[in-house]
Amino acid sequence: MLLAIETSCDETGVALFNLEGRLVHSLLYSQVALHSPFGGIVPELASRKQLEVLHPLVKKLLAEAEATPKDLKVISATLGPGLIGSLLVGVTYAKTLSLTLGIPFIGVDHLSAHVFSIFLEKKVKFPFLGLLVSGGHTALFLVYDFDRLELLGHTRDDAAGEAFDKVAKLLGLPYPGGPAISKLAEKGDPDYYELPRPLLTSQDFDFSFSGLKTFVLHLVKREGGGLKVEDLCAGFERAVCEVLVEKTVKAVKKLGIPRVVVAGGVAANKRLRELFQKRAAEEGFTVYFPSPELCTDNAVMVGFLAFKKWERKEFTPLSAECYARAKYRLRASNRAP
Ligand code: KG4
Ligand code: ZN
Repeated sequence: MLLAIETSCDETGVALFNLEGRLVHSLLYSQVALHSPFGGIVPELASRKQLEVLHPLVKKLLAEAEATPKDLKVISATLGPGLIGSLLVGVTYAKTLSLTLGIPFIGVDHLSAHVFSIFLEKKVKFPFLGLLVSGGHTALFLVYDFDRLELLGHTRDDAAGEAFDKVAKLLGLPYPGGPAISKLAEKGDPDYYELPRPLLTSQDFDFSFSGLKTFVLHLVKREGGGLKVEDLCAGFERAVCEVLVEKTVKAVKKLGIPRVVVAGGVAANKRLRELFQKRAAEEGFTVYFPSPELCTDNAVMVGFLAFKKWERKEFTPLSAECYARAKYRLRASNRAP
């Protein structure tokens, strides 16, 4: 069996696959309640909690699947990018098991794992465009294969999820901000406040969300007690979704690739899914979204990609180190002059 571990941020995820690549069991330990009072993730708290819960979680996973450590033939963990303390907990645990059980270790890139999470539910024909929208990253990839992704563009500042979280914090809403804003937005009028659409018409495929967040900050100060929170949430959500969708549509047209996969925590957003479906029908492309529980961090997507690597005997040396920042391969024609 293959054991997969995900500890790149605040979640602790474990998953078990058989060696035919089928998911056997998975568990997720959420830390939302721990970080909620702080309005965001406190990295030191996240890694300390992961250190505490990871081993019991693996034991529970094996017990519930009626498996023992002897059944494990390969072990994988998210190597990066993410919070370095959290990554170290999962990777050190995995490397230790690899050494003591004498089984290979496979390090998995978190962003790739998100992009390919759709394959757990649907097969998508290569090449496709992969829009990754999470709390830490916003990037558009041209995806040729499981090990070949080229970056078309990424955020120049805040990630889309980060913008949701920061705007929620300044509105006094709970963490994570995405679901909180989305819920209030249901009752709001997205046209009440006029919000900017950053980089909507730029010639590249980059994104930028920090200006939108600052715009909201000024608007909140200006409106004071008269602020219409639901309308602001609806307007903010629509501004973010429109930029994400329209830039992706531009890439579909420019590259002539009629398949788009949207992944990462923000891909769970209902409005984003609706707007993408509408534009896909209008422009004649297909858009794929994993189920909401597969969009946010989990170990199932890590196990899937690790299995693909295992099939190719692509093992990771134990000397490989965790990395905090994304390792993008920029598409040559999109490089800045
Ligand atoms: O992929 P993820 O679980 O973790 C990272 O790798 O960052 O993404 C978490 C992000 C958070 O910023 C959260 O606010 C956002 O995803 N998110 C959403 C929704 N659900 C989660 N954003 C908008 N709408 C949602 N429904
Ligand atoms: Zn993630």
